[in-house]
Amino acid sequence: MAPPTSSAITLHVNGEKHTLPVDHRTTLLDALREQLDLTGTKKGCDQGQCGACTVLLDGRRAVSCLQLAVAAEGRAITTIEGVADGDRLHPVQQAFLDLDGFQCGYCTPGQICSALAVIEEHAAGWPSAATADVRPEAGVPELSAEEIRERMSGNLCRCGAYVSIVQAVARAAGAAGRSGAPSEPWQAGGLGEAGAPADGEAVA
Ligand code: FES
Ligand code: FES
Repeated sequence: MAPPTSSAITLHVNGEKHTLPVDHRTTLLDALREQLDLTGTKKGCDQGQCGACTVLLDGRRAVSCLQLAVAAEGRAITTIEGVADGDRLHPVQQAFLDLDGFQCGYCTPGQICSALAVIEEHAAGWPSAATADVRPEAGVPELSAEEIRERMSGNLCRCGAYVSIVQAVARAAGAAGRSGAPSEPWQAGGLGEAGAPADGEAVA
């Protein structure tokens, strides 16, 4: 007998359990959007290159177009719909709003999900390709514009809102009081003028 090609699975999304039938080839992105009506997560390239579909899996970033829904069973999935606390925006969302970290907004859910994890990864001392001294004794590097651009480089913005995105991530990290976060980088003379890419320039 041929093995089954579909199953009923239970996904834990934004703190709620959802049991749904899925074809084993269904991506997590399609399950979220098409079956759970969580359309905040966007489909851009559908091949792992743009970051628009980024969600958090057990707190870590994942491009949901490259994850099979069946492989996400039992894991904590956070989408943009689960980031705010009721009507109160998360500090990352508020920073994007205050600093115009988006234009058309299409990439924004993925950018915000990435930013959430970037701030935690940085505070936990994870180095990036932009970290000059990766020895543990060097401590947490400052979350400079270069660090933010490198850590957010998996998320492309076609509108070229990169300057504001870098500023918003820095502000949110500062608001969270994270180790190594710049104090007030969004002010004049801060990240906006210190090495931020020009509009339309890639973050990476
Ligand atoms: S839609 Fe998943 S990375 Fe582009
Ligand atoms: S805000 Fe339009 S793609 Fe990023």
